[in-house]
Amino acid sequence: MNPAEALRRVPRENFIPDLIWVRRDDGWAVPLRRADDPERWLEMVRDGDSITTQVDDGATEKGTWPTSSASALHIVTTMLETLKVEPGVKVLEIGAGTGYNAALLAELAGPSNVTTIEIDPDVAEQARAALARSGYGVKVVTGDGTHGHADGAPYDRVIATAAVYELPYTWVEQTRPGGFILAPWGPTVHPDEPLALLRVSEGGTAEGRFTCPGWFMPMRGQRVAQQVRHETRETWEKQGKPALSRFGITVTNHGTRIWLDSPDNPIG
Ligand SMILES: C[S@@+](CC[C@H](N)C(=O)[O-])C[C@H]1O[C@@H](n2cnc3c(N)ncnc32)[C@H](O)[C@@H]1O
Repeated sequence: MNPAEALRRVPRENFIPDLIWVRRDDGWAVPLRRADDPERWLEMVRDGDSITTQVDDGATEKGTWPTSSASALHIVTTMLETLKVEPGVKVLEIGAGTGYNAALLAELAGPSNVTTIEIDPDVAEQARAALARSGYGVKVVTGDGTHGHADGAPYDRVIATAAVYELPYTWVEQTRPGGFILAPWGPTVHPDEPLALLRVSEGGTAEGRFTCPGWFMPMRGQRVAQQVRHETRETWEKQGKPALSRFGITVTNHGTRIWLDSPDNPIG
C-alpha cells in the first residue's frame, strides 16, 4: 500500500477531537466546538490544513501558541512517502497528537509494528481512544519522546512530528543500522525549519540532509525564543541564502553537526 491509499482508508474526522481551535481576527486562538458549528468543523477537517487541537499546553478559554495539532495532509503525505514504510517495518513515532498519523503508519506497516509517544497525558489518552475506536492496535506511550522507547527498540524508522533543535541521540541508538530517522528541525541554520532525513550506520552515526520545508511546532523541552528565529534568518541571509538541500546533518554520541555541501564544512 502507498501513503495515498492509506490516507483514503483512514477517515481523518475519526481522529479530530470535537473541540478544535481557530484563530480570531484579534490574534487569539479560541475553541470551535463541533456541536456548535458542525458544518465549519467538518469543513476544516476535510480541507486538509493543519488543525490546532491544543493551545498553550492546555488552555481552555483562549490561547496563543498551538501545542498540539493534526498536521496538514500535504506534509503528512510527504513524510510518509519519504519514510518508505512497508509491511513489517518497525516504526517509532514521536508526537502522537490525534493518533491520525499513527493510524496511517499502522495501515502501512501493520498495527503491531507501530509505537507512538505523546508527552501530554490528555492528548495521549485521546489518541489512544481514537486508535482503539478505529480498530488499530497501536501502542501509545505517554512520556517524553526525547528518551525514545527502549522497550520496542531497535526500530527501522523513527519519525518525529514535533521539531527538534538538537536531535536526541537515543533515537540513533534505538534505530537499527540501515534504518532512517525523519525529523522536522527547529530554527538552526535555515528559516524554513526543514525536515531532515538521516540514515543510521553501523558505528552509531546518523547522517543525512534537509529535504523540504517543515514548519512543525517544537518539541516540549526544545522550545526556543522568537529571537532565535530572527537570528537564524539573518545568519542565513548573510551566508547568501543557501538552498535548503545544500545543508546536511551528522549526529554522533558527541552531538549534532550541521554542514554545508559536505560533512567537512561544518557551520552553525
Ligand atoms: C504536530 S503534533 C503531532 C501530530 C500527530 N502526529 C497527528 O497525527 O495528529 C505534535 C505533538 O507532539 C507532542 N510533543 C511535543 N513534545 C513532545 C515530546 N518531548 N515527547 C513526545 N511528544 C511531544 C505534542 O504534545 C503534540 O501532540
